[in-house]
Amino acid sequence: MDSVAAMSLDDANWTAYEAGARAAIDAALSDAELDAARVAWLGRKSELVQALRGVRDRESGMLLNGVRGRLETAVAERETALQQLLWEAAADSGVDVTIPGLPVERGRLHLLTQIRREIEDVFLGMGYEVWDGNEVATVWENFDALTSDPGHPSRSINDTFYIDSDTVLRTHTSPDQIRAMLARTPPLYMVSPGRCYRRDTPDATHSPIFLQVECLAVDRGITLADLQGTVLQFFRALFGEDREVRMRTSFFPFTEPSVEFDVTCFICSGRGCATCKRSGWIEMGGAGWVDPDVFRNVDLDPDEWQGFAFGFGIERIAMLRHGLPDLRAFWENDLRVLGQF
Ligand code: PHE
Repeated sequence: MDSVAAMSLDDANWTAYEAGARAAIDAALSDAELDAARVAWLGRKSELVQALRGVRDRESGMLLNGVRGRLETAVAERETALQQLLWEAAADSGVDVTIPGLPVERGRLHLLTQIRREIEDVFLGMGYEVWDGNEVATVWENFDALTSDPGHPSRSINDTFYIDSDTVLRTHTSPDQIRAMLARTPPLYMVSPGRCYRRDTPDATHSPIFLQVECLAVDRGITLADLQGTVLQFFRALFGEDREVRMRTSFFPFTEPSVEFDVTCFICSGRGCATCKRSGWIEMGGAGWVDPDVFRNVDLDPDEWQGFAFGFGIERIAMLRHGLPDLRAFWENDLRVLGQF
């Protein structure tokens, strides 16, 4: 082939080009050969496409586009012809090509992973950073720095998985608050989703392994209204407008004041049933105003910094969204269940 520069735009040259391309296309005996011919004669670096790029007048444009259009048709026709040849060859060999194939199963993300990513997106949209916390925490991070009482039953080996006397599998995502505050200088806006572990007996709403998402905001001049606004925004994004949310006072050692969030029960819509223990509400998680002592434990001045934190169970969110009665299903990996989402 001539070089692009040497190629003039007269008709005769392009007639020869088209004939050459057609011969190459029709000579292709496999998909790979056809593709090679297409790339050589019609690809981005082919003389034809290079010449088309340099076109300035209408007439040349029409000429070259005509060549390109006809060659593209030739490629498509050759593809069909090759397919036909394959079928004929298969039929000759006695294979019935009309028998439907075996369905190919498509993989997908676990429902909890989908929801976790959705939560991350909601918070990224609000300007939060997503934190990848550690499932193994020191006793200090998981309990002491969060000012949990040294004698509190949640610390006992009946409730918590200890690796050694100083190390546990985190019982909530709240130790990530501590790690984040030690690693960053505020203002700090972070969410940390991940696995947590407790020595709970599995039932419809409890599992020894579960997912939480922690949220922590530390800045100057934050108010409780920011906490409420953020939680509402989060719920709206996940559930739409039609679930009612209520906040009631509660206690956590690391927040003061503390609240718990409930949403109307997904099974009975608030009328009262076994799942919500006849209350009409399902507990979603805890929240509160970061306790000044927690700030002191990570060397932040509570007179300068304020903040809020909350933690929610991700399985609960999934159950609520899809009306699933039992969270054990998430961890049993039964594809008949997981395949529905
Ligand atoms: N960590 C608490 C729990 O697991 C939830 C929580 C998080 C409460 C942050 C207040 C602030 O129940």
